[in-house]
Amino acid sequence: MQQIDVTVKPGHPEQEQAELLVLTHYEDADRLHGDAATVDRALGGILNQLLSSGEFTGKNQQTTVVHTHGKLPAKRVLLLGLGKKKDAKVETIRQAMGVAAKRAKAVNATSLTASIAGTDLSGVTDGMLAQAMVEGTILGSYQFTAYRSTSQDKKEKTFSRIILVVANAASLAAVKQGAAYGHAGAEAAVFVRDLCNHPSNVMTPSRVAEEAKQIAKSNRIKIKILERKDVEHLGMGAFLGVAKGSHEPPKFIILEYDGRKGARTNKKGTATGPIVLVGKTITFDTGGISLKPAENMEQMKADMTGGAEVLATIRAVAKLKLPVHLISILPATENMPGGAAIKPGDILMTLSGKTVEVQNTDAEGRLILADGLTYATRLKPSAIIDIATLTGACVVALGQFAIGMFGNDQALKDKVRQAGTSAGERVWEMPLWDEYFEQLKSDVADMRNIGGRGGGMITAALFLSKFVGDCKWVHLDIASTDWSERERAYIPKGPSGIGTRLLLQYVINEATA
Ligand code: BES
Ligand code: MN
Ligand code: ZN
Repeated sequence: MQQIDVTVKPGHPEQEQAELLVLTHYEDADRLHGDAATVDRALGGILNQLLSSGEFTGKNQQTTVVHTHGKLPAKRVLLLGLGKKKDAKVETIRQAMGVAAKRAKAVNATSLTASIAGTDLSGVTDGMLAQAMVEGTILGSYQFTAYRSTSQDKKEKTFSRIILVVANAASLAAVKQGAAYGHAGAEAAVFVRDLCNHPSNVMTPSRVAEEAKQIAKSNRIKIKILERKDVEHLGMGAFLGVAKGSHEPPKFIILEYDGRKGARTNKKGTATGPIVLVGKTITFDTGGISLKPAENMEQMKADMTGGAEVLATIRAVAKLKLPVHLISILPATENMPGGAAIKPGDILMTLSGKTVEVQNTDAEGRLILADGLTYATRLKPSAIIDIATLTGACVVALGQFAIGMFGNDQALKDKVRQAGTSAGERVWEMPLWDEYFEQLKSDVADMRNIGGRGGGMITAALFLSKFVGDCKWVHLDIASTDWSERERAYIPKGPSGIGTRLLLQYVINEATA
């Protein structure tokens, strides 16, 4: 995995010995401001010349690199456009920094230096700004080269440091905190991208379990891995049903982190249960006997994105030593056809005691999550959030820019929505009305696992809702966002890791509330 160091220090950009100094400019400003103006004076006005000649306008994500020829301690300056100030948001900065990181790599800079000033967006604290800048830079410089033996890509892997310079001593602590959150969130998302990029012949359920063990070893995390015989004993018939077609042994992975000090009660003195995250971990989804078409099937190696995200989140939370009680659950298996595989019409006994008629073996995510969610309810959680690449219908309904959200508790939904907005990983709420349940009625069992033509994302969520009991619960369908068809400012082509920073932000917000 790529490692990028983050350094926050007091200072002034024009005095920094930077390899590449990033300075920002809004399109609608008639001249350079703040640090850019100071640096320009040292450079004899060449930056303002670029502006007046129209060579650089400050259009969003525009970049120009200028050599300083010894007029500054910095070797090069990167002018970065942020577009019109009235349109600029934290996400604008995150994306622009992603572009800056790519440009830094293109000019073989091993580090990038930027100052926390000069962007002055209303309602945006220096801490939030630092967080977004670090996130954009790390996420934008991502590359997956594990299987390239001789390529260019290997040589480019030198970009390794972000330096944030803070002129205002009063905001140094906030910037450090924001940068630490940003570093943790971006590193977590990068970890998810890596796990999902590895092909399914490598990233098997056993390998996911190994990754989880590694994480538990180096952090304050307890781990329990339930093997096939354990889940048989417990009665997870739905999870086991999906696993039956595969030669790879299934793993039901539970990680627990408790960072609270002293009494296990909240301010009101009442006991609080853990936050439980459940992530769909299908290391490859062939569809099973209801086999998927060949086209794009390779993308189903990323059908474990939800699991990778809850794993990355608990790792990040432990690294940040947040004072929360968090449990991550990963039901991990392949979905394969085979002599022992479940067949349409088979009836499974779930851990909850409810029976499910499998009408389509490709609707496997909800089966493994049914048992994962039932397991979660037994932990007396304060909240359950499940995250899953659950339905193609989610892609149809929402395209690429929104995560589908469902839930049974308004306050929890609001918190998740807010976390998603600040992470730049936005959710869109969908209805969880019981009317839709008629589509899930079975002639022979308590319910069936598909809901017919209409509202496929909704019926899948409604199916899950039958396994959460009275617990406060949110379901996130990330089938829309987990895989990017093209490279964007800070999102690569392929596995995106989207959802990870939302989850981490939610936990950070809970920890600091
Ligand atoms: N993993 C897929 C959903 C998916 C599709 C994720 C496209 C990412 C991109 C899921 O297991 C699945 O196959 N769902 C079926 C459900 C159907 C059989 C009711 C689907 O959406 O086609
Ligand atoms: Mn499927
Ligand atoms: Zn699937």
